Amino acid sequence: MELSLCVLGCGNYAATFARQLRGQNGPAVRLYFASRDLRRARAYCRRYGGHGAFGSYEEAVADPRIDACYVCTPHHLHLKHALLAISHGKHVLVEKPIACVPNEARQMIHAARSAGRVLMVAENARFLPIVKHSKQLIDEGLLGDLRLAQFQQEGPFRLGGWRASADMMGGGLLIDGGIHLVDMMVHLAGRPTEVSAVRLPHAMEGMEGMEGEDGVALTARLPSGALGFINYSWAATQRIPRGSVSLSGSRGKLTFDPGGQSIVLETTTSRQRWLFPDDRLGIVAMVEEFHDAVAEERTPMPSADEGLYDLEIVLEAYRAAKAGQPVRLG
Ligand SMILES: NC(=O)c1ccc[n+]([C@@H]2O[C@H](COP(=O)([O-])OP(=O)(O)OC[C@H]3O[C@@H](n4cnc5c(N)ncnc54)[C@H](OP(=O)(O)O)[C@@H]3O)[C@@H](O)[C@H]2O)c1
Repeated sequence: MELSLCVLGCGNYAATFARQLRGQNGPAVRLYFASRDLRRARAYCRRYGGHGAFGSYEEAVADPRIDACYVCTPHHLHLKHALLAISHGKHVLVEKPIACVPNEARQMIHAARSAGRVLMVAENARFLPIVKHSKQLIDEGLLGDLRLAQFQQEGPFRLGGWRASADMMGGGLLIDGGIHLVDMMVHLAGRPTEVSAVRLPHAMEGMEGMEGEDGVALTARLPSGALGFINYSWAATQRIPRGSVSLSGSRGKLTFDPGGQSIVLETTTSRQRWLFPDDRLGIVAMVEEFHDAVAEERTPMPSADEGLYDLEIVLEAYRAAKAGQPVRLG
């Protein structure tokens, strides 16, 4: 089955998404582009081998050629644009976070279910070969009992536009890029029972206008009693080098960089290394899963409910940071 997928919003990440899909041996997808500015939609269409361009999202969702929409707009508009697409019978792949607050996410999930449409959150990190294989090694019990799961990402990133607004973001960077680390923690180490968080001091340079946090440290009590730790910052002076994810258990320690190509598993007596092809984004595999879920009329993996769950953890972490004490999760 060939899926006609229209990108709603021709911004930065839409370009990354389209570039990845172009010319790869991926799923059978025909890309279309919709922008509030027809010239931009046409430019993306030309650059990324699209099949059509629209000068408004409304025009795109009303077009019978379109099967599905990829919502790649600011966070506060995910609900509006997903509902717009679903109300016209389109399937939806929505960027993370699924929405700014759980009620919006529930509304979206309910609308998709009632209309019998597929709704998937674009949690691309799940589709990195390195993450998939780590999950397999952990599930095989090679680490023994998990004790500590650490996820760290730091970089000297700059931002502007809607990202500076706490309302449009739904918070700061934990709800933005940080939600990938939350999802990875839940996926690899289990659902936390308790979460605590601290905002790092606001950076002086480059982040002046940002209302939300530009750095956060989060700890989580994991089901086995292990500790989850996330350190995520855009205001660091250096990037954290390779090996920014590590999971330590009673029998071994597994280390990898989500943007890298190898996993290392060390025990007291051995060291094993697995190498993977260069795929830092997982976008092609993610779209393949979306395509298959539509073709097979089934719930995608991860489901939209998992996106909602990640959002709830992020918001509980914000609550914990504000209260200055841990929050228990239901
Ligand atoms: N999975 C990942 O690793 C990853 C990485 C980066 C971003 N993302 C996600 O991708 C989404 C878009 O992020 P981005 O970095 O691409 O942002 P961006 O460059 O600002 O693009 C967002 C696009 O949304 C459209 N838009 C519609 N209404 C808008 C409004 N009122 N204000 C601003 N833009 C509006 C615009 O496209 P038109 O003008 O063409 O309509 C704009 O170019 C977000 O959900 C973000 O979290 C995901």
